[in-house]
Amino acid sequence: MASLHKRIDELRRLIDHHNRLYYVEAKPEISDRDFDKLLDELKTIEEAHPELVMPDSPTQRVGGQPIEGFETVRHRRPMLSIDNTYNDDELREFDRRVKKSLGGAAVTYVVELKIDGVAISLTYEKGLFTVGATRGDGEQGDDVTHNLKTVGGLPLRLHADRPPPLFEARGEVYMNRADLAQTNRERADLGLEPFANPRNSTAGSLKLLDPKLCARRRLRLFTYSLGACEGIEIKTHLEGLELLRTFGFPVNPNVAHFDAIDAVIDYCHGWAEKRHDLPYDTDGMVIKVNDYDQQRKLGTTSKSPRWVVAFKFAAEQGLTKLEHIELQVGKLGTLTPVAHLTPVKLAGTTVSRASLHNADYITTKDIRVGDMVVVEKAGEIIPYVVRSESAARTGKEKVFEWPRTCPNCGSPVVRDEDSPFYRCTGGKKCSGQNKKILRSYATRGAMDIEGLGIELINQLVDSGLVRTIPDLYRLTKEKLLELERMGDKSAQNLLDGLEASKERGLSRVLAGLAIEHVGVSVAELLAQEFGDIDKLMAASAERLAEIDGIGPILAESIHAHFQSEAGRDIIEDLREQGVNLSEKAKPNPADVDGTDLTGKTFVVTGTLAKYGRDEIESLIKSLGGKATGSVSKNTDYVVAGEKAGSKLDKARQLGVAVLTEADFEKLIGRDV
Ligand code: IVH
Repeated sequence: MASLHKRIDELRRLIDHHNRLYYVEAKPEISDRDFDKLLDELKTIEEAHPELVMPDSPTQRVGGQPIEGFETVRHRRPMLSIDNTYNDDELREFDRRVKKSLGGAAVTYVVELKIDGVAISLTYEKGLFTVGATRGDGEQGDDVTHNLKTVGGLPLRLHADRPPPLFEARGEVYMNRADLAQTNRERADLGLEPFANPRNSTAGSLKLLDPKLCARRRLRLFTYSLGACEGIEIKTHLEGLELLRTFGFPVNPNVAHFDAIDAVIDYCHGWAEKRHDLPYDTDGMVIKVNDYDQQRKLGTTSKSPRWVVAFKFAAEQGLTKLEHIELQVGKLGTLTPVAHLTPVKLAGTTVSRASLHNADYITTKDIRVGDMVVVEKAGEIIPYVVRSESAARTGKEKVFEWPRTCPNCGSPVVRDEDSPFYRCTGGKKCSGQNKKILRSYATRGAMDIEGLGIELINQLVDSGLVRTIPDLYRLTKEKLLELERMGDKSAQNLLDGLEASKERGLSRVLAGLAIEHVGVSVAELLAQEFGDIDKLMAASAERLAEIDGIGPILAESIHAHFQSEAGRDIIEDLREQGVNLSEKAKPNPADVDGTDLTGKTFVVTGTLAKYGRDEIESLIKSLGGKATGSVSKNTDYVVAGEKAGSKLDKARQLGVAVLTEADFEKLIGRDV
C-alpha cells in the first residue's frame, strides 16, 4: 500500500506541475497525450481505491456529478463593476478626479488587460477550494463550484505551507478563441446557434449542470484581485497579484506600473493593436490605483469603486460588400450560408468570409446579395454579418434565393417544419456531407485517426477512393500511392492509424458516426449502457429514453439512425472490416479491494476458470500492476491456468514465481 500511496502522490504532483506549466505559465513541457496518460493512470488507481481519492486530486476536476440546479451564494464582499472610459480625455479626467480626492498626493497606476469573460469569486478555506461563484447581481451569484473545478489552472488547494484561514480570489473565466471556435463548430453540427462571443460561451458553460460537459469547453482563468481574506496583510495591488501567483493562480503577465497618466494612455493604445496577437479576447484595459490605503480613501459609489476605471477598445466592426452567398453542407446535410465579402481589415486580420447562420437570420435581418454589410469579429470562426446598410442600397441588390437542389450533389433541398435550416437530402450521395462525416469520424474525440486530416479526406473523396466510413478500411498502399503528393511514409502512416482505430471501442465509433445530437458524452453513455452494438441497435426508443441523460428527442434520433438502412449498412460493413464494436465495462471499484500491485509485472497464460484473459489483465491494471504478453527476467509473476505451455516453461527456466488462479486470488485478497 505504501508504494501505491507514493505513486498516487507522485502522479498528483506531476499532473499539478504540468497543469501549471500549461495554464499558468503557458510553457508546456509534455504533449497533451502524455499528460492524458498520467491522468488516466491516476484515474485507474483511484477507481480501484476510492478511499484514497482526496478532494484536491486532479481527477476531481471532472469527478463531480451533475447538479440539479444552482444554489445562491451571498458574496462576503460585493462584487462591483467598473466605470468605462472610451478615449484619452476621459482617462485624464479620471486621473484628475483621483488626485483631487487624494489631496494631490502622488499616485501610481497598475494597468492590466480587460479579459472578455465572466467574473467569478473563488473561496478557499484553510487552503482548500470550497466555493466558486459567479458575480450575479454583485451581491449574490450562482454556486458553480462543480464547473469551476474543471477550469485549467485553477488550484484546488493553495500552494502554501501555512494557508490563511480564509482566502478569496477574484478573476475572469474565459475561453481561448480557438476553443470557442471548436465549441461553435460542435454547436453548428447540432444545429444550434453559435455563441457570439467568449463571454456568452463562458457564461453558458458555467451554467451547465454536468461538469463533464463543461470540461469539454476548456475554460481558463486569470485572477486579478482579492476578495474577503483573513490573515493576509499586504499594502498594494501589485503585492496582491504577486500573492495570487505564489498561491498558484494564473495571473496575466501583461501588467504594467506607471506614475503618470500619459504613460498609462500610451500603454493602452499599444494594446489596442497588440491584443489581436493574444489567443483570447480582451475588450479593453483596466487601470487601478496601486496603493490599498489610497483605494480605501477613494472609496466606492453604489456601483463601482472610484479607484479603478476601464478603457474600452473600439468595437471591432468593418463595413464591406457582400458579394455572394455560398452554401456549406454539414455532416447531417444542413446547409449553412456563408457570406463572401470584399476583403476588409478587421481585428488584425483580413476578413473575406462571414457567417450568416441560417435562413431565418438572412430574412429577419433583410440581408441581400450586393448589400454593404457591417461585419463583426468575435471568436475564430465568426466573423459574422451584424446587419446590412439598407440606406446604402442602389437597387441592384438581390434577395437571396434558396436553391431547390444541393449545390454539391444536386439532390432536393428541404426545409423541415420549424427549423431555421435548409437541408440536402442526398445522404450518402452527397460528397460534401460525406467529407464532413469522415472528418467527424477521424477527429480526436472519436476515432483519432493519425494522418487523416481535412486535406486528405477531400482528396480521398474527390478521387472517388472513399465515400463512406468503411471505405477507409478498404484503402491499400497501392491505391493511396496513386494520390497526388502521397508518399510511401504518409500512406503507411494512414494505414497504421486506421488499423489502430479498429480497437478504439464502441463509444469512440459512436461518437464518430454523425448521428444527430450524439457527441462524445452521449456516445460514452450508450457504450457503457449497452456494451455492444447489437444490444444498442435492438433497443427501442423507449428503452433508450430510460437512460439517465438521454431525453426523448435524443432517444428518437438514435433509434431512427439504427433503424435506417444506411445506419445499419455502415455498422455491418464496419464489423466486416474488423472494427471493434463493443466496449469494456468500466471496472466497478466496489469489486476490487485494497491490494497494491504497483510495480509488479504479470504474464497470464493458459485457461483460467473464473476470469477471461481481458478480465484478469484489467484487474491487474486496476490494482496498479502491469500485464504483458511475454515472460522475461523482468516478469514478477506468471499466472498459469489449464494447458499453460511455453510461457510456463520459460517462467520455470528463469525462476519467475508461478501462481495458480487460487494463488493469484490470495495475493490480491480475494480468496474468501
Ligand atoms: S478588476 C471592482 N481587472 O471587467 C471591479 N476586472 O466591466 C474589480 N475584468 O466585472 C474588477 N479583466 O469581470 C478587473 N484585469 C481586470 C479585469 C476585470 C476583466 C472584468 C470583470 C469586471 C468587468 C467590469
